[in-house]
Amino acid sequence: MKSKRKAVVTGAARGIGLAIAERFIGDGYFVVAVDRDVEAGISLQQRWDAGTLAFEALDVSEEEGVRRFFGNFEARYGKLDVLVNNAGIIRDNFITNMPVEDFDAVIQVNLRSAWLMCREAANIMRQQLSGRIINIASRAWLGNPGQSNYAASKAGLIGLTRVLALELGKSNVLVNAVAPGLIDTDLTRKLKAEVLQRLIELQPTRSMGNPADVANAVAFLASSDTGFITGQVIYVDGGRSIGAAV
Ligand code: NAI
Repeated sequence: MKSKRKAVVTGAARGIGLAIAERFIGDGYFVVAVDRDVEAGISLQQRWDAGTLAFEALDVSEEEGVRRFFGNFEARYGKLDVLVNNAGIIRDNFITNMPVEDFDAVIQVNLRSAWLMCREAANIMRQQLSGRIINIASRAWLGNPGQSNYAASKAGLIGLTRVLALELGKSNVLVNAVAPGLIDTDLTRKLKAEVLQRLIELQPTRSMGNPADVANAVAFLASSDTGFITGQVIYVDGGRSIGAAV
C-alpha cells in the first residue's frame, strides 16, 4: 500500500464516486473511500483487501471530522496524491417553493465540504510539492430550472477550482473540475420518470452517461501524463453544455 499512488474519493459508497474508486483501483492506486453512509461503506470494504481500499466513515461537511481525517492521513496512509471531491446532494424545487433549509443543505454539502477538504489537502500537498485535486461539479452550473441551490453550489465549486489552481500551481498542485451531465445513478433515479425522459431528450446524444464515463475523465486528470492542465472544467455531458438538442 505504501508504494502505491493514493487517492481519496468522497461520496465513494455508490454512483459516480464508486465508479471513480473502482477505476483508480483498476489503475493500481490505493483508494481511501470516504462516505457518511456507514452501512454501504462496510460492504464496500468487504469487496477489497486492506492493501487496496480503506473505507473511512466521515460526513465531509463537518469541519472537525475533516481536520481529523487529514491530521491522521500521513501516519495511516503516507503520501496524499489525489483528492476527488465527489460527495453531493440535490434538493430541487422552483425558487418560490424552496425552503432556505434546502438552499443551506445543498451549499453545505456540495460547496462548503469541498472547500473544507481542499483546505486541509492543500496544506499537505503544498508541503509535498505535488498533488491533484479534482472537484465533481455539474453541467447544471450553467443553469437548470428547479436547481437554484444546486447550480449555485456547483458554480461556486468551479470558482473554488479556478482560485486554487492559481494559488497552488507554484507548489505543483493541479486543481481541475469535471462537470457531468445526466448520469445514471441513484441521484437521477430519484427524478420522476417524465422529468427524466424530458431531460434525456434535451441531450444531443439522446442518452444518459454512465458513472464510468465520469471516472474516465477523473482518471485522465489524476494521471501523471497530464502535468500541465489546471483550473479547467471537463464536461462529460453528451454535449448538453453546448445547448439543448433540437
Ligand atoms: P449519489 O447520490 O448516487 O451518491 C452520492 C454519495 O455521496 C452517497 O454515497 C452519499 O452517502 C455521499 N454523501 C452525500 N453527502 C455526504 C456527506 N456530507 N459526507 C460524506 N458523504 C456524503 O450521487 P451521484 O449521482 O453519484 O453524484 C456524485 C456527484 O456527481 C455529486 O456531486 C453530484 O452533484 C455530481 N453529479 C451527478 C450527476 C448525475 O447525473 N448523477 C450529474 C452531475 C453531477
